[in-house]
Amino acid sequence: MSRVVVVSNRVADLRKTTQSGGLAVAVADALKAKGGVWFGWDGNTLEDESEKLGVDTIGKVDVISTPMTIEDYTQYYIGYSNSVLWPLFHYRTDLVDYRPQYFEGYMRVNGKFASLLKPFLKKDDLVWVHDYHLIPFAARLRALGCQQRIGYFLHIPFPPPDILAASPNHMALVESMLQYDLLGFQTSADMNNFHRCAEDFFPDAVGEDGEITYKGRKVRLLRLPIGIDVDAFIEMARSGVEEVSIDRMRRAILGQHQVIGVDRLDYSKGIPERFEAFSRMLHLHPELEKTVSFLQIAPPTREDVTAYSEIREKLEGLAGSINGKFADFDWTPIRYIHRPIPRPILAAMFRASQVGLVTPLRDGMNLVAKEYVAAQDPEDPGVLILSSFAGAAEELHEALIVNPHDTDEMAQQMYHALNMPLEERRQRHEKLLERVRESEAGTWMQNFLDVLEEEDAPQDAAG
Ligand code: G6P
Repeated sequence: MSRVVVVSNRVADLRKTTQSGGLAVAVADALKAKGGVWFGWDGNTLEDESEKLGVDTIGKVDVISTPMTIEDYTQYYIGYSNSVLWPLFHYRTDLVDYRPQYFEGYMRVNGKFASLLKPFLKKDDLVWVHDYHLIPFAARLRALGCQQRIGYFLHIPFPPPDILAASPNHMALVESMLQYDLLGFQTSADMNNFHRCAEDFFPDAVGEDGEITYKGRKVRLLRLPIGIDVDAFIEMARSGVEEVSIDRMRRAILGQHQVIGVDRLDYSKGIPERFEAFSRMLHLHPELEKTVSFLQIAPPTREDVTAYSEIREKLEGLAGSINGKFADFDWTPIRYIHRPIPRPILAAMFRASQVGLVTPLRDGMNLVAKEYVAAQDPEDPGVLILSSFAGAAEELHEALIVNPHDTDEMAQQMYHALNMPLEERRQRHEKLLERVRESEAGTWMQNFLDVLEEEDAPQDAAG
């Protein structure tokens, strides 16, 4: 099999355990096992342009990373990627902050990245580009004469045509995507949205049978939900971190339950809505006083984008007012942690929590949902409450599915989860774990690469 070259905006630190964000976690898990090359930004910014490519070998992976200039960081990362594409692809046109220089920076950095990677590429490499930062990457590589097969996976949702059209560059975006050999999406809804965009904006590229051909190249679409390394996560959750075990024992003695949420502090995650629902439950069920607490872990992210500092202020105000209303000398209803926590501790925390709340307003997949399921003790599992707007809801039917905008429904389902009989919890968990195993990180990666390598695989039905 050919060598795999993964390209993503950020290369994860393969030596660290505090990755946050689905891409870093899933790709790191899969690539560590398989080996290959990982190219991307090293997370550093410089005043001026300079050739500071880092090359490091970690296990079977060669990591090639580059810093970027402050101007590139501002226009490409903060600007077009996270102030235009991220809100737009999460259906938040109200938060889009469009400026022409952002798009210029976006195209420029994609070009720079392609030129930096090109000398490392071998003829038979399979190039696999990830996520919304790098949509034009294949077009840039092709412009440099690269003939390799190039695949793309979008980790976040893909919006329908009328939302995408809010970006003045929507034609360029779709055209760039048509330069790949294979396009992977988290859900069939995302894949169908892309297909509709291709039909609306490039009708000549879509044949009567729905197949897409652009500039003589077949563009295949694939729905391929991302997953986690299930056994590794189960092991992490089992091997009991001491501080978590003590916390758990203390709660057991006091007869207390814990509800948990773990998300980057992003407006797409629906965290304020979740706090409101928890508060509503306490209001409707005063008997729960001192018997349940909600632990929200929300590490900081993209703090240079205004919408993110706003969500932080909102959340901190809300946690303060809810605690002010319900807390007592010996009870804090909401515990909120705003820093990254190592994955082994998270895994043990998931296992020690009776309810997992994963209620984004819109999410590509949400691997926390899968991690929460994997972490449970099968003999006495907790209950997953999952937003219908998370990609994971297309698979995890046995979770309690909620609408995150409906505070009352979320409050009721939380109450229901806290009181669910053991037999029902076990049945749901068994089925959920089966489903989580169906899309493990390793098979996800292998399936994508198998299709990318095939010359003429049939296209998934779409449209
Ligand atoms: C999401 C995106 C990833 C991104 C991650 C962390 O999971 O899909 O592409 O890397 O968030 O965000 P950051 O901006 O810190 O890379």
